[in-house]
Amino acid sequence: MKRKIIIPVLAAAAILAVVLAASNIGRGDVGERHILVAYFSATGNTKAVAETAATVLHADLFRITAEEPYTDADLGHGADARVTREQADPASRPAIKNRVDNWEQYDTIVIGYPIWGGDAPRIISTFVESYDFTGKKVAVFCTSGSSGVEDSQENLRALLPDAEFRPGIRFDTNATVADVRAWAAEAGIG
Ligand SMILES: Cc1cc2nc3c(=O)[nH]c(=O)nc-3n(C[C@H](O)[C@H](O)[C@H](O)COP(=O)(O)O)c2cc1C
Repeated sequence: MKRKIIIPVLAAAAILAVVLAASNIGRGDVGERHILVAYFSATGNTKAVAETAATVLHADLFRITAEEPYTDADLGHGADARVTREQADPASRPAIKNRVDNWEQYDTIVIGYPIWGGDAPRIISTFVESYDFTGKKVAVFCTSGSSGVEDSQENLRALLPDAEFRPGIRFDTNATVADVRAWAAEAGIG
């Protein structure tokens, strides 16, 4: 009598396991994740959007951390402020203190940053020059007071001639899951 119950239960469990596995295929939930959301954020706006993007894309999240943290004084707009000096020098490459593990596992790199003086922070240049982007899909997003993403995207594209760029976007600081999902669909990532 017992076997009569156990066999259908086992069969149902096996079918459920197959269905669950199939529903996750291609979503990055099984095995290694293939999308990395790498971001730099000084005051938290980009961090919030990056976290939403990582959730929407089932991606790993990597916070680009400066060897020398940016203080409030560094972020000032005076001519002597650190950020003003770095952004005035396209060759500036502020050091990064952490590294992405298992870079090879990612086929898509989403890069998020604030706009500083109309461009991406120079630490993003340091980041993109620290890895091999050959054959990787790259999609950038920024947060900003009002500036668009276009200029920074073009400058990063010039640093990454071997990457396949997808359309970037500027997000408001309160970007929603729906906003990020719409961009990902348009950019063909995920
Ligand atoms: C030094 C500095 C320069 C900035 N330059 C610009 C700019 O050129 N255009 C703009 O729209 N916003 C500019 N902003 C605003 C930031 O891009 C915006 O607040 C961004 O969301 C900050 O992101 P975070 O909180 O991740 O650091 C600047 C902010 C700082 C601190």
